[in-house]
Amino acid sequence: MVLEKRGALSGAKFVSFEGIDGCGKTTLMDRLAGWLEEAGIACIRVREPGGTSIGEKIREILLDTACSEMTRRTEVLLYSASRAQLIGEVIEPALEKGAWVLADRFVDATFAYQGFGRGFDLERLAMIQRWATGGLWPDKTILLDCDVAVAASRLGQRPGAKRDRIESEAGDFHKKVREGYLFLAREEPTRFVILDAAKPLEEVAKDFHERFWLAEG
Ligand SMILES: Nc1ncnc2c1ncn2[C@@H]1O[C@H](COP(=O)(O)OP(=O)(O)OP(=O)(O)O)[C@@H](O)[C@H]1O
Ligand SMILES: [Mg+2]
Repeated sequence: MVLEKRGALSGAKFVSFEGIDGCGKTTLMDRLAGWLEEAGIACIRVREPGGTSIGEKIREILLDTACSEMTRRTEVLLYSASRAQLIGEVIEPALEKGAWVLADRFVDATFAYQGFGRGFDLERLAMIQRWATGGLWPDKTILLDCDVAVAASRLGQRPGAKRDRIESEAGDFHKKVREGYLFLAREEPTRFVILDAAKPLEEVAKDFHERFWLAEG
């Protein structure tokens, strides 16, 4: 299995960032990329859905507000297809070369959004995810947790902000997603690091540095 093989060969880590839209994932990923660069450690960054030319085409379909007729099963399978392509084309080759991989969302997004948000059975989703990923799971997952209103107000402040198909869901959907993420994190306390993302950015970054970078880096 890929995970075991690379673990033995290098200290490369696969770190995913999760949380509702606007919680600060991309901002914190930038910080980690900076620390890795200072330490002379190679890293790549990927985003979901997308990150490959095939995946970016899938992303366009998934986030297009014109695709309102998309069935929930189609949504699950498109996210999973984008992920499968990203793993095969980008993530596995990078990990095998010893580079860290920082992922802006990964499997937990499917559990949180399609499981808790849309109401799909988690066991069924896990089965699809295990198949789509070939069993490749993040070593660590950073959950940026904050209130839906806090995250929404940050998105509103982003210049040129326009809501995509998922962001346009009602507030209640995002509340369920947030609760879902917290449930997942409590289920796997070793893999997850939960950060209070409602704090000012420098405090969140400090917590991340202490609880992840100093512990893992
Ligand atoms: N702790 C924080 N306090 C205040 N503002 C923040 C904080 N973290 C991030 N921001 C700002 O909030 C906005 C959203 O942050 P960011 O783009 O990192 O979130 P995201 O989780 O990646 O969002 P999306 O899911 O839409 O990609 C940005 O303008 C960012 O500068
Ligand atoms: Mg982002």
